[in-house]
Amino acid sequence: MKALQIVQGDITTLTVDAIVNAANQMMLGGGGVDGAIHRAAGPELYEACLKVPEVRPGVRCPTGEARITPGFRLPAKFVIHTVGPVYRDGLHGESELLAACYRNALALAAENACRSIAFPCISTGVYGYPLEDAARIAIREVQAAVSARASARPDMTPDMEVIFCCFSERDKQVYDRIVQAPGG
Ligand code: APR
Repeated sequence: MKALQIVQGDITTLTVDAIVNAANQMMLGGGGVDGAIHRAAGPELYEACLKVPEVRPGVRCPTGEARITPGFRLPAKFVIHTVGPVYRDGLHGESELLAACYRNALALAAENACRSIAFPCISTGVYGYPLEDAARIAIREVQAAVSARASARPDMTPDMEVIFCCFSERDKQVYDRIVQAPGG
């Protein structure tokens, strides 16, 4: 992997191969980063999401899984939609589901020959996941995918650039601190 970067800003403005959307299972838009991505991508994104088959009524993307669509009016070529867990108390499989979001999004990016991908802080808004815990999982999963590349697991394109796009400066500081001192 070329680089792991942490930036502060609006993910919809990033010129990368794929941006990740913190969606819900219905995949038809919402608030937060989901709303921002749908507004910036234009109505074609909604139409593309509608065409994603339901796996059961009202569910296009189960929690922890990921789906890909074009980015339409976004600078990003693709949107990878993933659904983070709603945080209850940390005892309902939340950490495993959040880790699966990162793994599945990276795998889908690699399958689509993406060389760069940007993640928002999945689940840490409306879904209530404590930021620091979520950031540790995000960083651990991306770093694990990097080392997996050495053992030829197909979930990381060589030289893929991974960006963590934090909406607030405070969130960025948490990511920066964890990357610098993972155990601290
Ligand atoms: N760019 C980057 N990050 C953003 C942006 C943006 N334009 N807008 C919001 N964020 C950040 C939030 O500050 C938060 O850190 O995205 C993170 C995730 O927050 P949410 O968007 O609330 O996502 P999540 O907690 O996963 O909840 C998902 O929210 O709107 C709905 O449809 C969505 O139901 C789903 C739920």
